[in-house]
Amino acid sequence: MDDSRQKKNRFTGLIIVIIILGFLAIFTEKRFLLTPRFTVTKEKLENGRQIYLENCASCHAEGRGAAPRVGDTGYWQERLEKGVDTLIRHSVQGYEGDLGYMPPKGGNPHLTYDEIEAAVAYILSQSTE
Ligand code: HEC
Repeated sequence: MDDSRQKKNRFTGLIIVIIILGFLAIFTEKRFLLTPRFTVTKEKLENGRQIYLENCASCHAEGRGAAPRVGDTGYWQERLEKGVDTLIRHSVQGYEGDLGYMPPKGGNPHLTYDEIEAAVAYILSQSTE
């Protein structure tokens, strides 16, 4: 085997090791499974908790205005059947259901999609089995 070929092999080996380490980093990061297709990182959940406390808890903590209470697993488990994407979309766009009216972004237009997603993730993490 000539010299340049050996170098190339070593280089390929290094790339493979980097890829494997990358995968390990992704899969060992602690993620919270909310549904088989929806997992979030611990940071996102922490962030979601803050956003929830500031923007959603006024209704969802106590069930004001017929809002489903966080922690009411029966209610949220059933809602989850719509799919997490739908729940996030309803939270962003607003939603009128049998119970009452959920204002778009909980009434705070400054929230981003990502922040709403984090808040919904937090709500679900507290309200599903
Ligand atoms: C002014 C009160 C109020 C605030 C603030 C509020 N909600 Fe709601 N929310 C409701 C009500 C009422 C419903 C129930 C609607 C129904 O099903 O009839 C609801 C329902 C929901 C649902 C279920 C939607 C569905 O498709 O079943 C989600 C998810 C949700 N809220 C997330 C949030 C998030 C996230 C925030 C904060 C960013 C928030 N809500 C702030 C009143 C509120």
